[in-house]
Amino acid sequence: MSVATAPAAPDWARLRADFPALRRRVHGKPLAYLDNANTAQRPEAVLAAMDRYHREYNANVSRAVHTLGTEATAAYEAVRDTLAAFINAPSRDGVVLTRGTTEGINLVAYSWGGANLRPGDAVLVTGMEHHANIVPWQMACERAGATLKVLPVTDAGELDLAALPALLTPEVRLFAFVHVSNALGTVNPARELCALARERGVLTLVDGSQAAPHLPVDVQAIGCDFYAITGHKMFGPTGSGALWGRPALLAAMPPFMGGGEMIREVAFEGTTFADPPHRFEAGTPNIAGLIGLGAAAGYLTDIGMAAIAGRERALAAHARERLAAVPGLRLVGAEAPDRVPVFSFVVDGAQAQDVATLIDLDGIAVRSGHHCTHPLMRRFGVPATCRASLAFYNTEAEVDALAASLRRARDLLA
Ligand code: ALA
Repeated sequence: MSVATAPAAPDWARLRADFPALRRRVHGKPLAYLDNANTAQRPEAVLAAMDRYHREYNANVSRAVHTLGTEATAAYEAVRDTLAAFINAPSRDGVVLTRGTTEGINLVAYSWGGANLRPGDAVLVTGMEHHANIVPWQMACERAGATLKVLPVTDAGELDLAALPALLTPEVRLFAFVHVSNALGTVNPARELCALARERGVLTLVDGSQAAPHLPVDVQAIGCDFYAITGHKMFGPTGSGALWGRPALLAAMPPFMGGGEMIREVAFEGTTFADPPHRFEAGTPNIAGLIGLGAAAGYLTDIGMAAIAGRERALAAHARERLAAVPGLRLVGAEAPDRVPVFSFVVDGAQAQDVATLIDLDGIAVRSGHHCTHPLMRRFGVPATCRASLAFYNTEAEVDALAASLRRARDLLA
């Protein structure tokens, strides 16, 4: 007789020890790294995978039959499988390896947009997008004579879902939205948004940069047409990422960049192109970085994204309570319990940059500024905020240190 037992909860303290940078001291204090939405730290597994590539089988991919080239190609193509599983893509064919979410979105805006957007068409984005999911669409609309429309954000820092049906007019060809806000931590109802768009015949692109490190991502359950992720926010290296697209859509799209390995046959009279995903991978890719991203996805999968989401809910609840108790601190976009642990705030009478600089002296790293979300900052009437963004490896003690340091900063600055 077998007895079912619940899986053991991850040992969060042991997992934290996987990240060498977290052992640092800054200005003589233990580092509290709370800038994970900007870029997250890398575990030993990622560093080792990249190091092994450099030391043992550094070679170009898809171009050489020698042993090192074959090993490098196998490792690179295995990343595609790992990432397909990580986002539950129906097959590896829709996974394009990129240099990050910005490249993934630009790829679709340029390639799909160039082939499909016509004068009079529209692209819908939202008021909480990162600039990377605004500017490429603005540029594509300008090239095509199309219009950019915007779904507003409520005072609570959520998408104004009531306004969506009226905005999904027949001219709208694509709805691009962020899964999780990098500035507020809001988790958007991606599945519902995609279902409504699909009913209206509108394609969807989801910016998953901030979802991938925090939540299980399932592109089939979401029902989107494109989903973009970036490596460095999910504990992989910078310059790595992936775009998933429905294979039939990718197959109908012209190349984004031209170059080596994205072709079938090149002649001066004309060139024919490889099938997706290689059609969209011109030039030598960031091989080591992508191998590191594959290791990061494997590392997260081993922990379990559902377990990570659960740990972060507890951390977020603690942070919400501690930050709310700091005198003069105002959270921007009314924090709600269902958010990932990302907190934007202002401190009365103090500039965000001054606050961030002062608390750095206590070893606490937060981002200050506009977080690449000018329109969202304008929506909330602030030029800048401080943002504390946590990962599963952060601790309640670090949150307490943040709150204490903010109290001291306010006493000095306000
Ligand atoms: N997207 C990064 C951030 O939110 C740069 O900080």
